[in-house]
Amino acid sequence: MIDTDPNRLVITRPDDMHLHLRDGEMLKAVAPISARHFARAIIMPNLVPPVVTLGDAVAYRERILRALEGSESPQSFEPMMTLYLTETTDPEDVAKAAASAIVKAVKLYPAGATTNSQSGVQNIDAVSPVLDRMAELGLPLCIHGEVTHDEVDIFDREAVFLETVLDPLRARHPELRIILEHVTTEEGVDYINGAAKNLAGTITTHHLMINRNQMLAGGIRPHYYCLPILKRRSHQEALRKAATSANKRFFLGTDSAPHTASTKETACGCAGCFTAPNTLSCLAHVFEEEGALPNLESFTSLNGADCYGLARNSETITLEKASEPVGYQSHLSVAGSERVAVFDPSVPLYWRVI
Ligand code: DOR
Ligand code: ZN
Repeated sequence: MIDTDPNRLVITRPDDMHLHLRDGEMLKAVAPISARHFARAIIMPNLVPPVVTLGDAVAYRERILRALEGSESPQSFEPMMTLYLTETTDPEDVAKAAASAIVKAVKLYPAGATTNSQSGVQNIDAVSPVLDRMAELGLPLCIHGEVTHDEVDIFDREAVFLETVLDPLRARHPELRIILEHVTTEEGVDYINGAAKNLAGTITTHHLMINRNQMLAGGIRPHYYCLPILKRRSHQEALRKAATSANKRFFLGTDSAPHTASTKETACGCAGCFTAPNTLSCLAHVFEEEGALPNLESFTSLNGADCYGLARNSETITLEKASEPVGYQSHLSVAGSERVAVFDPSVPLYWRVI
C-alpha cells in the first residue's frame, strides 16, 4: 500500500522464506536482526550436524527462541522449521513433523552443492518414498537446485539441474509441492513460469542487487561469493522482472547466510551474503528502480505466505525514503572477537524501515 506521501510505504510485515540463522554465538547475534523486521522465516537446516528429524527441529527451534529472549525486537518472530532430507530420512518421522505445525518444509540439498551439504542426497531415487509421503501430506519440498558434477561449469549448474533433475522429479511426483530456492537464472524463471502447478521460486536480495561483475571485475570480492553463484547481468534482469511483477509464483527468500569475515577473506572462502540487516532497504531500492514499489508487498509479505498456505501477517511496517543515503553498520560483532560483514549494496540506499 502506497501512502499519500511518495516517500513512505506501509506494507504488511514481511516473511523471509529462506534464512540461515546458524547456532551458538552466531545465532544469538543474527536472530534478533531478522526478528526486527520479519514476522516469520523458513529456517534452513544445514547445521553441523544437520537438522534431520522432528526431534532435531524441535530442539533447534527452542534454541532460536531462547536466542531471541531479551532481544529488543518489539514483536514476535516465528521460526518455521525445515528438515534436512537425507537418504535415510524416515517417511513416518516426516509425517509426524508435518502434523507438528512447527515444520513447514523439507529441504533437499544435492550432496556437495553448498555449505554443509555433505549429508545431502546423492541418489534422488533413494528419497522417493519420502517424497511420495510429502505429496500425500501436502508438505512442500524446498530445493537447492544445482547439480554438483565436476564436468558441469559452475555457472550452468542451475540450468542443468532443471533439465536433468527437477523435470524428471516433477514428472515422478506431480502432486509434490516444490519451491525452487534462490533462483538465479533466466532459465529458472522461465521454468517456474512454464510449470502447470505446484512450483514456485524464491529470489534472494543479493541476486537482485548485483551480478557477477560486482564480484569479479576490478578485484575479487569474497563477500559477494554465494551459491548459486552470481550470474551475468541478463539473468539479474530476468530475476528483477520476476520479483517486481507481483507474479504469485515468486517471493522473497533472502538466503542471508552469515559467515565470519575470517572464513570469507581467505584462500578458499565460504559462500554466503549476510543481507538480514539491510535487506528491506535493498529491496525498496530495487523495486523503485524498476518502477514497481507498489509490488514490493506482494514479493516480501503476501506471495510466500499464500504459497505455504499460511495466514498473511496482520501487522505492518513502514519504509521511509530519506534525502541522504541511509547509514548502516558495515560489520556485526559475534561474541566480541569475530565479525560478520554486512552485505554491501554497492550503491547508496535511501529507503529504511522506521
Ligand atoms: O551462499 C550460500 N550460503 N548458499 C547456500 O546455499 C548456503 C549458504 C550457507 O549456508 O552458507
Ligand atoms: Zn541458503
